Amino acid sequence: METRVDEIAERIYRLSTFLPAVGPRGFTFNQFLVDADEPLLFHCGQRALFPSVSGAASRVMDLSRLRWITFSHVEADECGSLAEWLAAAPAATVTHGAIGCAIWLNDQSPRPPRALADGEVLDLGGRRVRRLDTPHVPHCWDAGLLHEEVTGTLFTSDLFTHVGDPSPVTGGDILGPAMAAEQQFGYTGLTLATGVTIRRLAALAPRTLAVMHGSSFSGDARPVLESLAGFYDDRLAKGAAASAR
Ligand SMILES: [Fe+2]
Ligand SMILES: [Fe+2]
Repeated sequence: METRVDEIAERIYRLSTFLPAVGPRGFTFNQFLVDADEPLLFHCGQRALFPSVSGAASRVMDLSRLRWITFSHVEADECGSLAEWLAAAPAATVTHGAIGCAIWLNDQSPRPPRALADGEVLDLGGRRVRRLDTPHVPHCWDAGLLHEEVTGTLFTSDLFTHVGDPSPVTGGDILGPAMAAEQQFGYTGLTLATGVTIRRLAALAPRTLAVMHGSSFSGDARPVLESLAGFYDDRLAKGAAASAR
C-alpha cells in the first residue's frame, strides 16, 4: 500500500491511497492537508491506512505542526483514525459541526472537540476555511463541507465520487463518472434539500474541487456543481414519480 502526495492547489496537498480490491475497478481514499500557519487535515482515513497516510503527511510537514483535524461526516474513511491522528499530533484539535459534536465527538473523541457553526471561518494564517453545514449531503446528518477562500478550494467529501485510479487533478469531466458511480452505489442521502444544498456550494464559484474518491477538479467548478444539483433533482423527481405509481 502506498499513499501518494500531490499539490492540487497552492499549499493544498492530496494524500491518496488506491485500494485495487474495493469496488469494480478499485477505489481511491483521499485526505487533504492544508499548509498554513495553523495546518489543517481534512479527513483522517481508516485506521488500517493510518501508517501509510500519516507517513505521506510527514513528507509534507512535521505532524507536530498540525493544528486542526476535521472531516465531513462520521464514517470510517472520513474519521476512523481520528484517535491515531490526535496521538501523533499533540497540538491538534478536532473540529466539526454542532450536530457532529453532539451525536459523536463529545462522546468519542480522545480530546474535546471545537464545534463550528454553519458559515464560521477558521483563519489558519495564510489560508481561511469556512465550514458549511450540508446535512445529508453527501450523506449523514452531521455532514458538512469546507471551503478554503484564498485558493477557492471546495472540499467536497463524497460528492463526485468516482471509481478507479484516475489522475490526481483533471480539468476534464468528473460529472459523468460521478453520475455513473451514484447510479451504481446510491451513496447520496437524497432529500428535498439535496439540490438546494449543492446550488449553495455552486454559488461559491470554486476553482478547485478536492474530491475524496477520484480526481480533484481544477477549473470553473460552478457549472459542474449546478449540473450535479440538476442530476439529483431529476433523480429525486423520478424516484417520487416511481413510488407514486
Ligand atoms: Fe461518506
Ligand atoms: Fe468517503
